[in-house]
Amino acid sequence: MSNRKDDHIYSALKQQHVTNDFDKVRLLSNSLCSVDVQDVDISVSMFGHTFQTPIYINAMSGGSDLSKEVNQKLSFIARIFGFPMATGSLSAAIKDAQWNDSFQVINHELNEGFKIANIGLSRSKEDAQKAIDILDADVLQIHLNAAQEITMPEGDRAFKHWKDRLVEIIEFVHVPVIVKEVGFGMSRETVETLQSIGVKYVDVSGKGGTNFISIENDRRDNRLLSFESYGISTVESLLDNQNHKNVHIFASGGIRDAYDIVKALALGAYMVGLSGYFLKLVMTHDMDKSIQLVKELIDDVKGIMAVLNASSIASLKEVDKIFDQDLINFINQRKKGK
Ligand code: FNR
Repeated sequence: MSNRKDDHIYSALKQQHVTNDFDKVRLLSNSLCSVDVQDVDISVSMFGHTFQTPIYINAMSGGSDLSKEVNQKLSFIARIFGFPMATGSLSAAIKDAQWNDSFQVINHELNEGFKIANIGLSRSKEDAQKAIDILDADVLQIHLNAAQEITMPEGDRAFKHWKDRLVEIIEFVHVPVIVKEVGFGMSRETVETLQSIGVKYVDVSGKGGTNFISIENDRRDNRLLSFESYGISTVESLLDNQNHKNVHIFASGGIRDAYDIVKALALGAYMVGLSGYFLKLVMTHDMDKSIQLVKELIDDVKGIMAVLNASSIASLKEVDKIFDQDLINFINQRKKGK
């Protein structure tokens, strides 16, 4: 298990995401700005908390010595900036208590900070509660990662219990539940099904960044190469999931910089999660430099919003979007399919 966690970290670090679907979205330019950067408010209220930014550190780490070190660094950053922080799947600690401290290191660093536990649907509702307890978590994330599992040589092959298990967990635990992908995106149909069984928070986590089929392929002799194109992008997922009434859509997957964050918010996301970005940050730079770069990231989000005349996230949603033909085709084909 600990080796698998380290393999994931090293493979993810190797991946480069120079272009993705966020480049196919442009926000209408605005030359006569009338907003001061210092007046841009990017705070967001969610789960009964107000966060100073809409950014969260998404699920990655725990279950090995290296991932303990990563969690320690990530939670330090989460505390400084008030980011909610998700851990990697706590299944490692549930199977073997020796890994508890690779997650609990977050409790020490984050103090009163906002913690999100993570688990998959192969675990029972009692295990989901254990995951919450180990971390004293405010929220539980449940990942849907079938594409990763079937590519993983030792992965799960049983999925038909997933929907029932999800309902059981939602009814059993006393914290809000976010259902997330792991980098392959979620269609409107999936989100509507989730909504029909009581899910209120969805992280579409689409293609465009970390690719877990490619990561698992690195661990196989016989690569399932063409499957690496599976999934829909974060941008496509956001476009497919416009105007849901009773479900909050979070965006993650391929967020590379401040402009991607702004675009994800403009496309309707309530909050924006970054995994690969934060992993590379803490594995490449010392803590002082990491903090400086995150500060610049936040300043850039506010700066770009001022350029767009958006003094709040709500006003950002009014900015006109211009889509490349690929995305227009996606939107049209999805309309026809419905
Ligand atoms: C992940 N991700 C992940 N997700 C999850 O729900 N549980 C997990 O245990 C993990 N583990 C994990 C390890 C590593 C090293 C990485 C990089 C990622 C997936 C992650 O939360 C996110 O959905 C994807 O990585 C897409 O976002 P980025 O990386 O493109 O920002």
